[in-house]
Amino acid sequence: MSEQRKLKVHVDAQRCQGHNRCYAIAPELFEIDNLGNAKTRGDGSVPARLEEKARLAVNNCPEHAVRGPRQLPVVFGG
Ligand code: F3S
Repeated sequence: MSEQRKLKVHVDAQRCQGHNRCYAIAPELFEIDNLGNAKTRGDGSVPARLEEKARLAVNNCPEHAVRGPRQLPVVFGG
């Protein structure tokens, strides 16, 4: 029997300030409402082919409003 992973993303509406980075990274997973804030498409389920985009969206929201599969460490500077 194979194990099925069910990854989801979620936008915290209280935190979202409309930066739209999530949508720019993964328009397949997010949409923008008429106020410019993000919400997930459908129930937020992340197909395997979009997992990396989901992680990027989580890590690139400046308000930490996108919750998702895994929070990767953020590296500043360069
Ligand atoms: Fe909102 Fe963050 Fe996306 S502020 S529009 S959830 S990048």
